[in-house]
Amino acid sequence: MKLRKIADDVWLGGAVDWERRLFDALIPLPEGTSYNAYLVQGTEKTVLIDAVDLAKIDILMEQLESAPKLDYIVSQHSEQDHSGSIPALLEKYPEAKVLASPQGRTYLIDLLNLPPEKVTAIKDGETLSLGGKTLRFLTTPWVHWPDTMCTFLEEDRILFTCDFFGSHLAASETYATDERRVYTAAKLYYAQIMMPYAKQAAKNIEKVAPLQPAIVAPSHGPLFDQPAFIVDAWKEWTSAPPKNQAVIAYVSMHESTRKMAERLTTALVARGVRTEVFDLTVTDLGRLAMALLDSATLILGSPAVLNGPHPIAAQAALLANALKPKVRFASAFGSYGWGVKALEGIPALLPDLGAEFIPPVFCKGLPKEPDFQALEKLAETITERHKNATLGV
Ligand code: FEO
Repeated sequence: MKLRKIADDVWLGGAVDWERRLFDALIPLPEGTSYNAYLVQGTEKTVLIDAVDLAKIDILMEQLESAPKLDYIVSQHSEQDHSGSIPALLEKYPEAKVLASPQGRTYLIDLLNLPPEKVTAIKDGETLSLGGKTLRFLTTPWVHWPDTMCTFLEEDRILFTCDFFGSHLAASETYATDERRVYTAAKLYYAQIMMPYAKQAAKNIEKVAPLQPAIVAPSHGPLFDQPAFIVDAWKEWTSAPPKNQAVIAYVSMHESTRKMAERLTTALVARGVRTEVFDLTVTDLGRLAMALLDSATLILGSPAVLNGPHPIAAQAALLANALKPKVRFASAFGSYGWGVKALEGIPALLPDLGAEFIPPVFCKGLPKEPDFQALEKLAETITERHKNATLGV
């Protein structure tokens, strides 16, 4: 990718990573990603805002050939997909200073072994004049790490946001034009990465929205020249109540738990509860996270394995617990061979959800009519809870 002009003396650079399929050795990237870097040239100083993953350093270096010099590298967030190439950049541009939030400075030194004297901590609200261009730095912690900050280019009203408002989406377009595609990618990104920090993200939206940027320029995925599109979406994801929707996430070894999942699904749908069902052996965890974002209830299904729930179900519980979705209710179901005790630990896998745990349904071997009736009752209880809760539409 060549540099693309987004305003006078402001360019989008960085790399589109079409092939990458996994992030943090955890997060599926069905549509790849991009590492956006921005070059801002004032009459006196030149700044690079964010860098790229080290794997794409050659592309960034080539783009920078057109820059006369590099005075500053603004590191808005120290995770290596944006900072990994900073050591190499400093070798090529030894005169450049790195600017980061106070936490970012610490992390850059820890994670990249940057010499402390090369990194300057900047305060919330501090400005930097480049000559005809003024950068204002705004700390926005927890979107995605405690170090994250945004940069507002005052004259052009461009808000650079790093992970905030981003999406893992490899695309050739500069701006979000295919709104449906970008909305889905951004929602997936939010659910997998930002959902645990929804409260902090909501505060950060309140902090940056009054700037009324003309362009929102994240460091992953397309830019937004109609910022309301992405800002309004984030407002909903962070703050709207969950919907009349349940997630059934299950594993089955010998069809018993699957039969329970099918009956519970039918029972919920018959009662008007929108239901998303995930067989965890084939589920994309990102899609599960996205479904949890909207759901009022999570129901985990697992057979007993040795002395506990199936490890794949336990992994999903661990993930759901860490993501802290807005679910209000949780429950479980599953089949055991010789002892129900193996499944009774499932609620303890979800301590941070803050959800009411509705009594689960566990059955011995293949489910029989009384077990199906118990699942009908569970569906009825969930439906009633949804009716009595304040849910979104
Ligand atoms: Fe895109 Fe948290 O790094």
